Amino acid sequence: MSTRDLWNSYARYFNAEECIVFPADEPELEFYRRIREEFDGACLEIGAGSGRLAASLKSKSVTIALEPSDSMLGGWSAEDRRDAVRIQGTGEQMPFKSDHFQFVCFPYNGLQCVPEENIRLGILKEAFRVIAPGGFFLLEVSPVFDRRESEQLTERYCADMPDGSRLILRERVVRRRNPDSIKYHMFYTTVKHDGETTEEIILDLFVTNRDEVIGLLKDAGFCSVIEWGNYDRSPYDDELSPRLLALAIKGL
Ligand SMILES: C[S@@+](CC[C@H](N)C(=O)[O-])C[C@H]1O[C@@H](n2cnc3c(N)ncnc32)[C@H](O)[C@@H]1O
Repeated sequence: MSTRDLWNSYARYFNAEECIVFPADEPELEFYRRIREEFDGACLEIGAGSGRLAASLKSKSVTIALEPSDSMLGGWSAEDRRDAVRIQGTGEQMPFKSDHFQFVCFPYNGLQCVPEENIRLGILKEAFRVIAPGGFFLLEVSPVFDRRESEQLTERYCADMPDGSRLILRERVVRRRNPDSIKYHMFYTTVKHDGETTEEIILDLFVTNRDEVIGLLKDAGFCSVIEWGNYDRSPYDDELSPRLLALAIKGL
């Protein structure tokens, strides 16, 4: 299944989880709002999904939201559509001229959703190409996935939806080594007054570590990288940090 097809199927469940089932991650939204204030020129979000970060990334200068999936793009609210210019496309083939953006980001483990190694490097090389000299690239990944083990099928939640239906997630996790990946088999059941349907979504996440990420950024051309371990900008620690926020600089 192509990335676009996967996210077209997954969009309604991903968006329900982010907007209804679980509370918003306020430290994350604040982190992106603050960093956008610091880098206030033209900005690009790669894999912008349904605009969850649009309000945080809005500025006087333009913010471009690049996203391959029709369903994710279709999920943007009217308000978020005012905050960014949505463009359909992939990170490995960006429809932008070189040296254009002051700030590019690929948030929320987006890179780990790309199963092909050559495409992951292709995205980072494209990010390097479109960033202006002296500009910044922020890449967010979760090396902690490496510590996740396989898990049997269990129910994760049962939540009421605004349209009166109920959404139930049952999930099984398969941890593979060589190639290092974590496969989520998600069974989403929608219960309505006239019956229920179940759809399986399989999300294959690439498992990575700090050294590999920094190596990829250097291979893409970035010269120096600041490493934070959380949204409070604490330094990255392999054992303790819940995520890696790598801020890479394109040399002048
Ligand atoms: C985990 S979601 C994050 C969405 C959004 N940034 C957010 O924080 O809510 C990852 C997004 O990356 C997109 N994506 C997957 N492969 C991509 C690619 N090759 N280029 C650009 N975006 C991609 C998916 O369609 C999806 O919307």
